[in-house]
Amino acid sequence: MEWRRRHVLGLSDFRPEEIEFVVDTARSMEEVLTRDIKKVPALRGKTVVNLFFEASTRTRTSFEMAGKRLSADVVNFSSSTSSITKGETLLDTARNIEAMTPNILVIRHYASGAPHFLSRHLSCSIVNAGDGANEHPSQGLLDLYTILKAKGKVAGLKIAIVGDILHSRVVRSDLHSLGRMGARLWLCGPETLLPREMARTGATLTSDIREAVRDADAIIMLRIQLERQKTSFFPSIREYCRRYGLNRALFSLAKDDAVIMHPGPINRGVELSDDLADCDQSRILDQVASGVAVRMALLYLLAGGSHAAH
Ligand code: CP
Repeated sequence: MEWRRRHVLGLSDFRPEEIEFVVDTARSMEEVLTRDIKKVPALRGKTVVNLFFEASTRTRTSFEMAGKRLSADVVNFSSSTSSITKGETLLDTARNIEAMTPNILVIRHYASGAPHFLSRHLSCSIVNAGDGANEHPSQGLLDLYTILKAKGKVAGLKIAIVGDILHSRVVRSDLHSLGRMGARLWLCGPETLLPREMARTGATLTSDIREAVRDADAIIMLRIQLERQKTSFFPSIREYCRRYGLNRALFSLAKDDAVIMHPGPINRGVELSDDLADCDQSRILDQVASGVAVRMALLYLLAGGSHAAH
């Protein structure tokens, strides 16, 4: 397959063969990560700028590491120490950074559509590292990659995604990555956090966590995104935890070899009990490790590589 995309803004228009191409490329990148010297010269002379307007541990670090593993120059921009604090606009900020001729801009922004907006005004490649409650495409791809590594396939698996579905950009990307590869997706949360229109994607919606996790092959737990909630969506955290927190009793309803995932950061003791977060069936740190390989694949393909060429 020939990679033709200049940007990765979301997965909504990714065809299954493109998703497979990224996964295949990530597998090659993962092999690089097993070497003593975890570095290839594929992006030597290229520059990647991480432009983050929201907090991040995993995404920003792994894009930085991915760029460095490919020998790109990586520059990290943090809005809190930038001239944004003096009133500079997003577009002016991005145009000024582009004047320094980066090849790829990785952007996380609290406004849905911010990466799409920049892609219309800049000539470098844009990667969406999470925009508001819209999409988080690299997370969608790494979730797919993690399940493929754990289960060997995704088609036909029952995958439950539980929590704050309404505000989750991870769900919106997982619906495309996992859904398009044939998973049977179940979305679960309180009625107030479960947008009914998501049933149009083919996912099954339920507010009964027992129904969602019963016979599941994988369970993806989501954080309650209090920072995006302008009103109360449930009576209290204690009540939420009692009804939607994953504990041993609920997990026993899933398949014996089911895996537990979470995009992070985890609120331990709220959506996930401590022991389950760290149990043998948890793949949460595998997701983080997969994130480096998947983000290497995206940077590599956007910079003009073909997955056999490094
Ligand atoms: N999964 C994820 O986006 O984590 P960070 O917010 O730490 O980047």
